[in-house]
Amino acid sequence: MLWRNSTMPTSSLSLETARLPEIITSLPGPKAREIVARDAEFVSPSYTRTYPLVVNRGRGAMIEDVDGNIFLDFNAGVAVCITGHSHPHVVEAIKKQVDDFIHISGTDYYYRHLPDLAKKLSELAPGSFKKRTHFGNSGAEAVEGAIKLAMYKTHRQKLIAFLGAFHGRTFGALSLTASKARQRAGFGPQALDVTHVPYANCYRCPYKLTPETCGAHESSGPHCARIIEDLILKTTVPPEDCAAIVVEPIQGEGGYVVPPASFLRTIREIADRHGILVIADEVQSGMGRTGKMFASEHFDLVPDIIASAKGIASGLPLSATIARADLMTWKPGAHASTFGGNPVAISASLATLELLEDGLLTNAAVMGDYLLDGLRELQKKHSLIGDVRGRGLMIGIELVRDRDSKEPAPDERDQIEIECFKRGVIIQGCGTSTIRLSPPLVIDREQCDFALKTLDQAIAVVE
Ligand SMILES: Cc1ncc(COP(=O)(O)O)c(C=O)c1O
Repeated sequence: MLWRNSTMPTSSLSLETARLPEIITSLPGPKAREIVARDAEFVSPSYTRTYPLVVNRGRGAMIEDVDGNIFLDFNAGVAVCITGHSHPHVVEAIKKQVDDFIHISGTDYYYRHLPDLAKKLSELAPGSFKKRTHFGNSGAEAVEGAIKLAMYKTHRQKLIAFLGAFHGRTFGALSLTASKARQRAGFGPQALDVTHVPYANCYRCPYKLTPETCGAHESSGPHCARIIEDLILKTTVPPEDCAAIVVEPIQGEGGYVVPPASFLRTIREIADRHGILVIADEVQSGMGRTGKMFASEHFDLVPDIIASAKGIASGLPLSATIARADLMTWKPGAHASTFGGNPVAISASLATLELLEDGLLTNAAVMGDYLLDGLRELQKKHSLIGDVRGRGLMIGIELVRDRDSKEPAPDERDQIEIECFKRGVIIQGCGTSTIRLSPPLVIDREQCDFALKTLDQAIAVVE
């Protein structure tokens, strides 16, 4: 792969002051090529890379690669670097903690960080009741914790999840994941008894209904949620055996799909009628990404258990399973992790939450609306854009070859990603043919304008 972008002027660069991209070498540059080749020889080939971005440093929304090219990051390390790259407040908290102590393990000892963050999350997560938190290291682990807790507490073993869902790749989480067949291929029977039903994807309604005809605007709720009670609980999942319904309030890897609020309301009602727990997987949608601390809040959903990770510590590995205190009553030894809730990661998380509450949540909401408006303008111009949707800075642009047939355009999507990379803007795909925008919450209008302009050019080239 070697792409030259002749449109970018060369200049002396400084990552510290850069606001917009500057590409000075062919892409990938010589140093990047060398690292990509070494990676190809020694690193697991199971990773999925679309283009060769080789990172050297990051500041705010900007990334410098190993050859000195500067990129505008509209992906944030897959929706993780929520406060931007190496935010000084987060870096300071990490450095201070590293000086004090790095690890002691909350499984067997005490340190202030665990109760400090658990208390904060208890206050921030939806629901006015008291909550407790179990800490892990990754999104999949937060999901594992959530389903283990649900099974432990209900003494039930079946789960309901949604097609298109991504909950992680460990065996328990993989049983819930139904995003891409290749994620399961070769791994034999699934570990858990999960029944998948279609998600509320109104752009591609699996039942060929519309919000006007499916009940989404009525008290009964939409067909895709009602089917859980009307069909699934009556046929394959006896409610007395069903521990939990696991749902992403906004589907992430499945295509950044935003459901109608009545979908989640109806799921909550069905669950309550049958003593089933609702687990919200907010690994991607949480921690301010959507302009609210948790995406559930957009839909007035109060989950019993929340799985959180990604943005929670601005890039340090940390996850949280946050549950109603009356549910998290498991006995010592039932669940724990040596590294989970590491003091350095928690220090980063506490600093992250301060920044979110101190303006970044608001910025996510404002910049998100600004981007959505801009993208809807682009949609008028480019027939390749079938749908634009999102909340805050969790935005999906679904591409189609034909607006009437809605034929997906996966190759075009990948090509647009590469065209944006060549122009210095980092974006990523999700679902079958959706572009996702998940920038750090520090972006400003000028950077949004640049991303919009770049998308406009990239789409025009591909069209
Ligand atoms: C909604 C959701 N849940 C779980 C996960 C798994 O997280 P991790 O890769 O940290 O295990 C992801 C990762 O993309 C996710 O988007």
